[in-house]
Amino acid sequence: MDKIVVLDFGSQYSHLICRRIRESNVYCELLPYNSPISLIRKLEPKGIVLSGGPSSVYLDGSPKPDKKIFDMGIPVLGICYGHQLIVNEFDGKIKRFDNREYGLADLEIDDNSDLFKGINKKIRCWMSHADAAETIPNDFNILAHTNNSNSAAIANRNRRFYGIQFHPEVSHTEDGNTILKNFSHFISNAKPDWTMEGFIDFSIKDIRSKVQDDRVLCAISGGVDSTTLAVLLNRAISKNLACVFVNNGLLRLNEEKLVPEMISKHLGINTITIDAEQRFLSRLIGITDPEQKRKIIGDEFAQVFLEVTKDYGPFEWLAQGTLYPDVIESGFSKGPAAVIKTHHNVGGLPDWLNLKVLEPFRSLYKDEVRKIAALLDIPNEFIKRHPFPGPGLAVRIIGEVTNDKIRIVRHASSIVESELIASGWYDKVWQAYAAVGDDLAVGVLGDERVYGHIVTIRIVESLDAMTADWSRIPYDLISNISNRITNEVNGVTWVTYSVSSKPPATIEPQ
Ligand code: XMP
Repeated sequence: MDKIVVLDFGSQYSHLICRRIRESNVYCELLPYNSPISLIRKLEPKGIVLSGGPSSVYLDGSPKPDKKIFDMGIPVLGICYGHQLIVNEFDGKIKRFDNREYGLADLEIDDNSDLFKGINKKIRCWMSHADAAETIPNDFNILAHTNNSNSAAIANRNRRFYGIQFHPEVSHTEDGNTILKNFSHFISNAKPDWTMEGFIDFSIKDIRSKVQDDRVLCAISGGVDSTTLAVLLNRAISKNLACVFVNNGLLRLNEEKLVPEMISKHLGINTITIDAEQRFLSRLIGITDPEQKRKIIGDEFAQVFLEVTKDYGPFEWLAQGTLYPDVIESGFSKGPAAVIKTHHNVGGLPDWLNLKVLEPFRSLYKDEVRKIAALLDIPNEFIKRHPFPGPGLAVRIIGEVTNDKIRIVRHASSIVESELIASGWYDKVWQAYAAVGDDLAVGVLGDERVYGHIVTIRIVESLDAMTADWSRIPYDLISNISNRITNEVNGVTWVTYSVSSKPPATIEPQ
């Protein structure tokens, strides 16, 4: 399959470049900026995109790609910092300008013969930079300019190197998708054969050839990823598949009954249900550190899977619905993305479990999995479910996980969800839940003074969980949710609404 490689120099938009190119049906992979040339060559990309990034090319130690990418004979598109890298590499001059360009700018297109083909002469584009080109390299031409920058887009057509100062990947840039499509389809000549129908066919063959006659254990959480995975595996290797659902005591309200029921009723897949509530909760007593909680929960899952393999095995594989952003965020890209949280289903399993890991969705974004789910006839109620973290309510409880705090977040979250469903907001947001910690606040109940918990509602909008913004739901809806929580959930006196975006915050508080 033809592919484009994006080298990630640390921009918060790097993933978006990848997603946009995939939306134009060309497979695209995000790699750390310092990926060795041998790895890049092995992938045989049809073109390379250099992403934006926070650094300045003229600083010592600023991230640079292996220069040999410019000798591969394939097109290169630099975006923002990537554009500056190209200018710098070919002896143009980048310097810091006083009037930093941030936000929307008018781009006037001077040459629309290739990168800007099919685009109006003047478009709005998104700028986010302080450095810019003072001089461009000799053998480059100007393709577009703005008021502030007379070389907002440049090209060396002989070598097929292109540099643009703005961000075509963000939705604020008009026709940004067309620019990326022009680069991947026409300049790089990549065949647009990345479709989810194609992925399903490829994946079924790939699973069969990897697994052969081995048996596979698939852990189902009831979320869209693991449910879709179970259905795909069922198509590929139904005879050798067993699905397991673990009640770790940290599930949403009534999930321990609803999930196995939904899976067998709607999807015809029998599930082994393991009630491990006490085991998980007893190991969490006294634990307050978020990473330690995650590690304990990950470890306990592994212990449960070990027992399942003894009771229902032997199994050679454990299938998991790990997605591309999980892989990147767990720091496995070895690029500028620091380890933010240990997502327990990434990074392999302990050796003692002796199971190989099957992760067919490792290269996919959530919206791609949702498309697959629809193609596999999975009912909408599964497809539209909000993501729920593997460690469950534990990451929505700040401080020690106690039965009382579980009761509070579980009940309060179900109120948040039901109010969003009733008001038509559920499908418009990425995630919505309640969190609780140890902070208490005074309230009045009847005529009595009560010292109760503060519950925080977090409702966010996002495309892929890499970045997120708090949702501007109507005040009346916040008010309904707040009233219901303080009236219906014992021990809660205050409700707050989280107004932090990601970054700097994360979606889950722990
Ligand atoms: P954060 O909190 O890192 O979350 O901004 C990003 C997305 O990932 C989900 N999440 C997890 N999913 N295992 C999972 O399967 C995990 O350990 C985990 N931690 C966070 C989170 O709900 C959000 O959608």
